[in-house]
Amino acid sequence: MERKFPKGFLWGTASAAYQVEGDIRNCDWWEWEQKPGRIANGDSASVACDHYNRYREDFQLLRELNQNAHRLSIEWSRIEPSEGVFDSRQIRHYRDVLGELREQAILPMVTLHHFTSPLWFARKGGWTSPEAPRAFLSYVRRAVDELGDLVGIWCTVNEPSIYAANGWITGEFPPGRHGDLVAQYRVTRHMHRAHELAYAAIKKRYPDAPVGLSHHKFLLVPASSKRRDRLAAAAAQGVTDRWPVAPGRLRPIVAATSDYIGIAHYWGQLCAFDPRRPQDQFVRRFNPPGRLTEMGFVSDPAWMRGVLGALRRYGKPVYITENGLATEDDGWRERYLQDVLGEVHAAIHEGVDVRGYFHWTNMDNFEWARGYSCHFGLIAVDRKTQERTIKPSGRAYARIATANALPGLD
Ligand code: BGC
Repeated sequence: MERKFPKGFLWGTASAAYQVEGDIRNCDWWEWEQKPGRIANGDSASVACDHYNRYREDFQLLRELNQNAHRLSIEWSRIEPSEGVFDSRQIRHYRDVLGELREQAILPMVTLHHFTSPLWFARKGGWTSPEAPRAFLSYVRRAVDELGDLVGIWCTVNEPSIYAANGWITGEFPPGRHGDLVAQYRVTRHMHRAHELAYAAIKKRYPDAPVGLSHHKFLLVPASSKRRDRLAAAAAQGVTDRWPVAPGRLRPIVAATSDYIGIAHYWGQLCAFDPRRPQDQFVRRFNPPGRLTEMGFVSDPAWMRGVLGALRRYGKPVYITENGLATEDDGWRERYLQDVLGEVHAAIHEGVDVRGYFHWTNMDNFEWARGYSCHFGLIAVDRKTQERTIKPSGRAYARIATANALPGLD
């Protein structure tokens, strides 16, 4: 028997401005990528997918894939190029972009901050500064005033825990700090505050618009049933899943002030207690057995069910804001997609109120420090000509979206 999804289920893909638009030069990521050696193969987002100019044809392809939703981010550094100065031409651009989605009957989920910040903001300390939440609020208010009528669902900030860890612990993202636990703590605290302020500002103007954020659920599994490994995994998971609310107090990110829980889930690792690793809080993380994606991680579709199941107790609607597979083996992607959606379907049957799934991503794009070496897209992009080609996995996803169902299991 066909496995039906709830009526009105959102079938979409997710993307982020810096990864697709091209020519975003007034933000911290642009400055960061100018130094040789930081991006794999010397790649650059200077053109990316040229989506800034090609958004109409890109949305046309989403229509062709029978999508009824799309998650995208708007670029703060375009909208507010200097502090307090708003660029009406860029605002008009995003009105056109969102208007085009509406015209194609594709509901926009808009992310307000997806890893990039304007240079003026970064120069003032970026998210480590106590002034960050207020500065962000001023941009959010303008975005809400100018674009709010076109937005379907709001996503305030993207993956605060990943953002803080990559910028201040692993150094893979700007500002490239290593092991700065204090800054990591500050960044997540300020993002939390920024989220709350943005939530209130959006709700004041659009009380019925769903507002939330995207939390990256990197699954950390105990390497054995030994108590010390279980504790190591729980501690590591706690760091990624919680944000500081007051000195010494932590709160689950998914319990944030929000109308829905946004979950990005791709991969997991095993955790073992290791007394020789004080620099890693005594936790050794390593891959479970399994095929590695281009990102160097294992992605097991079966994990999705547990990730979603753990959210049931919050009693809130859930959107899968990101999920996907980095590979050039499109057959693998197609199987992964079928399997992971099977897990989503099962979780819905077990009582989790999942309202939509946003596959990462529609087209192969700029994967941050890994440049163009990771292929997450349902659509291939020729890097020389920018020609787009829908992959078989894209067609398979379209069939599921059209049927609002998966084929039966027999
Ligand atoms: C980010 C995306 C990124 C994806 C795949 C997520 O953490 O939000 O920007 O492309 O993971 O690595």
